[in-house]
Amino acid sequence: MQKFIPGKVLKEFKTRSGKPAILRYTKWEDLSELTKYVNEVSRENIYVGFSGEQLPRKEEAAWLSKLFKDADANERVQVLCIVDGKLAGAGTVNTKANLLRRCRHIATLGIMIRKKYRGDGIGTVMMEELIKQAKTFLKGIRIVELSVFAENKPAIKLYKELGFREVGRIPGGLKHRGKYQDDVIMVLKIAG
Ligand SMILES: CC(C)(COP(=O)(O)OP(=O)(O)OC[C@H]1O[C@@H](n2cnc3c(N)ncnc32)[C@H](O)[C@@H]1OP(=O)(O)O)[C@@H](O)C(=O)NCCC(=O)NCCS
Repeated sequence: MQKFIPGKVLKEFKTRSGKPAILRYTKWEDLSELTKYVNEVSRENIYVGFSGEQLPRKEEAAWLSKLFKDADANERVQVLCIVDGKLAGAGTVNTKANLLRRCRHIATLGIMIRKKYRGDGIGTVMMEELIKQAKTFLKGIRIVELSVFAENKPAIKLYKELGFREVGRIPGGLKHRGKYQDDVIMVLKIAG
């Protein structure tokens, strides 16, 4: 099983517009940028879990500590994309290791790219790496699942292209700007 090394570079590539980019694991020094990024995307109030709330640095630090602990146990991985030295996006895959044993083979994936970096191929490369990481890094994982707003067409298109299939919906399961829309559940079988 692969070992988690904070800051380890996983891939170097060029974005569609030709900008040099890297994918790497998170390190403790990312705390300030990660806090800024989460709060920036939250303020956009788009199709993500955050809806405007601003996380204090302290809360992000606690989240990061937990990330490192889970990563050491091969139960979570976070991949960052850095473009021109700036954090362009982050994605994470985490197992349900602390839940019932019966669903410990399922991991949940989440990804957010900063506004100015969207549509430049980064999400595609990050998703491919996250799936690869889930296969090689997370213990006993057979299924990667995710949940997406039904109206988030670019995200659904990307997930389908990578082999995810819709397995169900929670009608009206997600609220966005005062309106309810379906929570689309998608899965990718990666082993077994
Ligand atoms: C959804 C997201 C992860 C996609 O990442 P990305 O880097 O923008 O996507 P890519 O540039 O790799 O493009 C992937 C596909 O999505 C489509 N796409 C990307 N941005 C789009 C847009 N604004 N409108 C329509 N389609 C779009 C492209 O058609 C592309 O398909 P192609 O390969 O056939 O050209 C990213 O836009 C994002 O983080 N959005 C905001 C947060 C979010 O919605 N996260 C997902 C929550 S479930």
